[in-house]
Amino acid sequence: MRTIWWNSNNRTVQMIDQRLLPHRLELPEFADYRAVAAAIHNMTIRGAPAIGAAGAYAMALAALQSPAQTRDSLLIDLQAAKTVLDAARPTAVNLSWATQRLLDLAYHLVLPNMDDLRSALLAAAERLADEDVEINRRMGAFGAAVILDGANILHHCNTGSLAAVDYGTALGVVRAAVEQGKKVHVWVDETRPRLQGARLTAWELMQDGIPMTLIADNAAGHLMRTGKVDVVLFGADRVAANGDVANKVGSYSLAVLAQENGIPCYSVVPTSTVDLNLPSGDHIPIEERAADEVTHVGGVAVAPAQVPVLNLAFDVTPHRYLTGIMTEEGICYPPFTVSLRQAKEAAEARIRAARSRSRAARS
Ligand code: MRU
Repeated sequence: MRTIWWNSNNRTVQMIDQRLLPHRLELPEFADYRAVAAAIHNMTIRGAPAIGAAGAYAMALAALQSPAQTRDSLLIDLQAAKTVLDAARPTAVNLSWATQRLLDLAYHLVLPNMDDLRSALLAAAERLADEDVEINRRMGAFGAAVILDGANILHHCNTGSLAAVDYGTALGVVRAAVEQGKKVHVWVDETRPRLQGARLTAWELMQDGIPMTLIADNAAGHLMRTGKVDVVLFGADRVAANGDVANKVGSYSLAVLAQENGIPCYSVVPTSTVDLNLPSGDHIPIEERAADEVTHVGGVAVAPAQVPVLNLAFDVTPHRYLTGIMTEEGICYPPFTVSLRQAKEAAEARIRAARSRSRAARS
């Protein structure tokens, strides 16, 4: 099952409500782009590529909702929708990347009428979602090549099907290694405060029958020091041009510990997560979330009422701690300023070639 899809019967965007997993599977539907923005903010849907797809579908919804009779007035409504959507979560660049892609399309497409333009935007959102799955499989194949048979993999947060449209980024690499016949085992960080590891990664791996063990976040260092970890894998919400990586808070500590213990550490990202406009991780906005995510676990208070809290959702891992960055164009190695740019260019060239093949097939 995909994480998010278009429900053509009801003309709604439908998604798995990730706040309820692993206890309940509910599939809410959305007919209003503002409600999708709220769902991104409250983490009904989360994970960088998944919120990118949600942003694209929400832009298609905004086009359907708009009463505009001309392209110019539709563009004004789409720009307003983009502003609301991009503000829903600031760190993952995939969101603004996806909303921009739909806005650019609305600007450039030449079509006879507004209904055709609206249909083209929906088709573009569907294409973006399909491409995400394809990209994850390519990343998985490249990444799995460096995962050894018998590896113990330490994984942070949730980077699986749920964090993307399907298959996943870092968990996609795990899945690909298993598909290649490698016997791997995953140490699953519970990932406080929202427990994406305990709730989501554990659920996905158990569904697939992939051997795993859940650990408290602060057990990772001991496991590394005692030789029980062969490789550390995590995703990213934004990668700066120099290879600094913003990912779920706690990733930085893991990367430093990995280097201290001589363990390779990779971030696994689609090139849409690479933001060449930012020279380093110091420029990546770090989302700060509500205090109750820290003071409460599963709705139960674990801290005194009114305690002061700082709830940073992400941290930045400086590039010197990363062995490589796995992308759908291959594994990027230092110097990342060169290899990431090459990967971005290769991805863009591949998409251009696929588009002209499909145009040729249609004509
Ligand atoms: O706050 P979340 O759950 O959206 O954070 C998600 C992560 O940090 C993932 O590691 C990241 O989005 C990359 S996974 C595809």
